[in-house]
Amino acid sequence: MTSWSLRVTADGSHTVFSEPYQSTYHSMHGAWQESMHVFIQAGLFYVLENHEYPRIRIWEMGFGTGLNAFLSWLVLQERPVHLDYLAIDLNPLPPSITNQLNYPKLCKHPHAVRTFDAIHRAAWGQPFEIGPHFTLTKIQTDLSHYHPEGAVDLIYFDAFGPGCQANLWSKEVVQEQILPLCQKGTILTTYSAQGLFRRNLQSTGFLVTKIPGPPGKREMIRAQFLGKQDQ
Ligand SMILES: C[S@@+](CC[C@H](N)C(=O)[O-])C[C@H]1O[C@@H](n2cnc3c(N)ncnc32)[C@H](O)[C@@H]1O
Repeated sequence: MTSWSLRVTADGSHTVFSEPYQSTYHSMHGAWQESMHVFIQAGLFYVLENHEYPRIRIWEMGFGTGLNAFLSWLVLQERPVHLDYLAIDLNPLPPSITNQLNYPKLCKHPHAVRTFDAIHRAAWGQPFEIGPHFTLTKIQTDLSHYHPEGAVDLIYFDAFGPGCQANLWSKEVVQEQILPLCQKGTILTTYSAQGLFRRNLQSTGFLVTKIPGPPGKREMIRAQFLGKQDQ
């Protein structure tokens, strides 16, 4: 059985449909638009607005198509910031799918095709220099068994929805996997506004804000870690 198939979303960008999870990787209202709204505008631009960073460290739950990594690289091109991007995924997509994704064709950057290709060719399990200002580390692992090392500035939480994989939005995951990635000020964004996930974050030391979501989604979450007791 084929596990994945390509779909075209309303803004013309591709997404992937997962047979086992019976879910698309992005909103059918527009994959590119959703990633730009939820992760880049509400996350990356928000972090950059509030701090001056020579380096920014991003951690992503659910690498998938690599769209969030690619967009993060793309929007940082005009800024003097080094991107350290760490992403996990339990079931990486095969080249037969990633080679067909149309994301690099949707922007005019001269290095888009080469960079998107490098993002997918990078070996799993070790850091890879995609370019002089972009280090990518992809780790194949189950989120619930993942042992994070070191804090990050920004978390893109892009698991399949709580209705599909409730265990990945649980208090245990917030405490065991998300919290160790946080230092005072770490920002987390996600497309979901689920009440239980919001409360799980709040009870673990996050200030949680509901903000307008992308087309097709009224609200989403941006959360800021307020610090461990000794910070
Ligand atoms: C919503 S998709 C991610 C979309 C991705 N960020 C993108 O832009 O294409 C969810 C991802 O989580 C991965 N996943 C599912 N269960 C997982 C688990 N237990 N641990 C880690 N990754 C998991 C899937 O393989 C899939 O790539």
